[in-house]
Amino acid sequence: MAAPIAKGWRDPLILVLIVYGAQAAQIERKQIDSTPLRESGVPIIWVLGGPGSGKGTQCERIVAKYGFTHLSSGDLLRAEVQSGSPRGQQLNATMERGELVPLEVVLDLLKEAMLTKLSSSKGYLLDGYPREAAQGEQFESEVAPCSLVLFFNCSDATLTERLLKRGQSSGRVDDNEETIKKRLNTFHQHSKPVIEKYASKCKDINAERAPDDIFKDVETSIDALLAAKA
Ligand code: AP5
Ligand code: MG
Repeated sequence: MAAPIAKGWRDPLILVLIVYGAQAAQIERKQIDSTPLRESGVPIIWVLGGPGSGKGTQCERIVAKYGFTHLSSGDLLRAEVQSGSPRGQQLNATMERGELVPLEVVLDLLKEAMLTKLSSSKGYLLDGYPREAAQGEQFESEVAPCSLVLFFNCSDATLTERLLKRGQSSGRVDDNEETIKKRLNTFHQHSKPVIEKYASKCKDINAERAPDDIFKDVETSIDALLAAKA
């Protein structure tokens, strides 16, 4: 027989279960068949790095040179917020706290966007994904294996400086001092383990340098990937 729950613990425990159950019920999974993505064999590159490490900046250059499809999980989430949906409002609050949104939400948005672009895609750049080990595992089991991880490695001091500067004009709800601190904490706690977990596929790139110098290392990594696939 299961051990009885001490009286003082019973009510808080029930409350936790109710709240957790309500949150889980809110996350509706879509039935999305990713088979065409898996069968296409198109390269999939995860682009990782702390907030402000230059993921978006380098992805723009990669798109210009290699014609890959750039999908930023942050941009997809911001588009959902802009749509004004109730889900968008919840996402905005999470992003404003510098926390991660539920992994199912991001994965479904990504899958849909990837499938939409499949017929014309030479390869995918998933910018800011995966942000926790569980996202990586779920992606590889539901979609396809990742071909390469680019990690833009940058100090917290440089990241903070870049984001505060950008915050003067970006209008992003998370480009302020308080949220930047939280984003950095979230990065160290949840996203760093992804880099360790996928170390064998990961290129660690010094992102403290000028964008052009960083891009030279990016080109070397992508050229090697394409040569291996040819
Ligand atoms: P997201 O939009 O991905 O934001 P982020 O990771 O915090 O990174 P940024 O987009 O701010 O920076 P970046 O690395 O793209 O750098 P950029 O090129 O812009 O995510 C936002 C939020 O959404 C998350 O906090 C989370 O809540 C949620 N979210 C997103 N993905 C999620 C996921 N997978 N799961 C759960 N939740 C998720 O450059 C920054 C600035 O620096 C620019 O001004 C740029 O001009 C400048 N700069 C760039 N490179 C250089 C350089 N080499 N030297 C000098 N300046 C540079
Ligand atoms: Mg970005």
